[in-house]
Amino acid sequence: MTTVQVCDACGTTLGELDPRLACPSCGGLLSLRHDAPAVRGADLRRLFDARLDDARPAYVAGGGTAARASGVWRFREIVLPDVGDDAIVSQPEGNTPLFRRESVAQWAGASSLLLKHDGHNPSGSFKDRGMTVALTQARRIGARAVACASTGNTSASLAMYASLAGIPALVFVPAAQVALGKLAQTLGYGARTLLVRGDFDDCLRLVRDGAERLGIYLVNSVNPFRIAGQQSCVLEILQQLAWNPPDWIALPAGNLGNTSAFGAALRAAKALGVVDRVPRLLAVQAAGAAPFARGFREGFAERRRVKAETVATAIKIGDPASWDRARRVIEETDGIVTDVSDADILEAKAAIDAAGVGCEPASAASVAGVRRMVAEGVIAPDARVVALLTGHVLKDPGALVDYHAPGSTRPLANAPVEVDASLDAIARVVDAVGR
Ligand code: F0G
Repeated sequence: MTTVQVCDACGTTLGELDPRLACPSCGGLLSLRHDAPAVRGADLRRLFDARLDDARPAYVAGGGTAARASGVWRFREIVLPDVGDDAIVSQPEGNTPLFRRESVAQWAGASSLLLKHDGHNPSGSFKDRGMTVALTQARRIGARAVACASTGNTSASLAMYASLAGIPALVFVPAAQVALGKLAQTLGYGARTLLVRGDFDDCLRLVRDGAERLGIYLVNSVNPFRIAGQQSCVLEILQQLAWNPPDWIALPAGNLGNTSAFGAALRAAKALGVVDRVPRLLAVQAAGAAPFARGFREGFAERRRVKAETVATAIKIGDPASWDRARRVIEETDGIVTDVSDADILEAKAAIDAAGVGCEPASAASVAGVRRMVAEGVIAPDARVVALLTGHVLKDPGALVDYHAPGSTRPLANAPVEVDASLDAIARVVDAVGR
């Protein structure tokens, strides 16, 4: 099977191992195009289902078993370059759970809501799906170092996979704006970490300008191999639903890489007869970082940029890089873009956390967006909806502890109780809990 990189804007093609990340003719973003697989439709579904037998934690043996267990590389015929198992940099990743939680469904007003928890990936976010492919590609092209700009999850994932691949990593993150868990991971996994005095948009501009000049391979979501890997999430959702697509898939949206990936995966799945219809996508932004939601309301008449501000630091992005692709995806899937307030994000997160599922603030935007759309009559209360949770509850312990601080009157707040070291004091607390 062969793969080429194709410019979204003008169709110029580059070879599979070309390290450039923008079209040399017009500067457009690149996507991967693969030869059609030898099998289609039900045969492809059977091939993917047969591989579920390999998705068990027996990968200690090495020698390509991680790649075979991966919930990303399982779908290689549709979305990935043809790479031998032994050349794949995999933990493995994917194979994340799809939860049903009555209390969250009730909170959102969507009786058939399911939660796809991609925070169960090895570094705690969906970024690992793209990073296994990006670091595999970095090794194939002989990159001397890899780099990214990040609000924290991409950097944590990059640091993890670069360590696994044995390639030095450089990350650009906005100083004092990265959640503690993500910064801790990035440092611990050994990436060289630059705390840039600026915001995410400044970091991305810097790294895009600098990477090629410095001979470093950039693995932000402008890298088509990242997006290819992230396509696996939708395919995994479809597989978990026995290839019976839901009515809606809701996801948090920042730089719009994942929205683009979801749409590309659905396009490929439909074209190859893996499914006969596709769900509508609901992309949800934080109200203080919602240029794409504004663009949607304006019929995408022009590209908007904002100075971003939100408690959901993962999606605190004012100038999304994948705007054009995401716009096409929203139009193709008859999708919707909306925004939700920080208060609604935090309340959704409290409901998800209290259900024993847990996620980081940005992730909860998907569920808050579903609630808004049900309230507005856009999503039917009995529609089959899958909401994507993108990051683990421990990514942002600061936001959690603040929410539940003593004296907090927020919905579902669970403030800790400080007690004297005496049984009497504890008995008083236990009495109150029992009441
Ligand atoms: N949710 C989480 C937890 C994220 O970390 C991100 C993006 C998104 C949603 C939005 O995805 O950018 O593809 O629209 N985080 C990036 C990062 C920007 O650097 O970790 P998107």
